[in-house]
Amino acid sequence: MQKIKKLHILNTLHTYKALGFEYIDDIQNINQNNNSLKSLPESLNNLESIVQSCHLCQLSKTRKNVVFGEGDINADIMFIGEGPGANEDETGKPFVGRAGELLTKIIENVLKIKREQVYIANIVKCRPPNNRVPAPEEVESCLPYLVKQISLVKPKIIITLGATAYNNLTNDKTPISKIRGEVLPFGEAKLIPTFHPSFLLRNPSAKKYVFVDMKKVKRMKDLDFRI
Ligand code: URA
Repeated sequence: MQKIKKLHILNTLHTYKALGFEYIDDIQNINQNNNSLKSLPESLNNLESIVQSCHLCQLSKTRKNVVFGEGDINADIMFIGEGPGANEDETGKPFVGRAGELLTKIIENVLKIKREQVYIANIVKCRPPNNRVPAPEEVESCLPYLVKQISLVKPKIIITLGATAYNNLTNDKTPISKIRGEVLPFGEAKLIPTFHPSFLLRNPSAKKYVFVDMKKVKRMKDLDFRI
């Protein structure tokens, strides 16, 4: 096996280990990361400094601001979206546009907590032009940052919003309509995929499914995550 490929595999195994995995059975399918998780810092502030000056992919050329993520650095619940849109690119903050307003309502009205009590991040930290889906090589260079964020925040529940977040974080290509609402093991955390708030803005009738999924999260929180 090529030395470089071995290195990629080693990096990815470190990624999974940092998330609490002990066994990976699909080693040939492992993503090739060119951004070593092992070399990333052990504090969110230092990690953010690195991400702020990242130029690993072409999204860095068109971004106005890096959107690192925000929230309680010890949050039990972490939301993961796809990538910044126009409002997020302007402000440097995740989920501040219409989709963000809806996400905030979901957090406050269904989970009955403040938005500041969760942690919110994205698969890619820079806006894809015209809000297109991030390209595989953009995801590949940015994903180690998110994985490091997860390993530093150590959430008990990760809620992925939409297909891009679920498919890229888990490497499972099951359609979001089939997998949403499932409680899946993810390292030491539980992962629950649900629909993206932007999808709900276009398809309000799907809100009921997200309501059901978030009620499940609320129950788990009320039981102190002993599920
Ligand atoms: N959509 C996302 O996926 N993330 C954001 O931060 C905003 C909109």
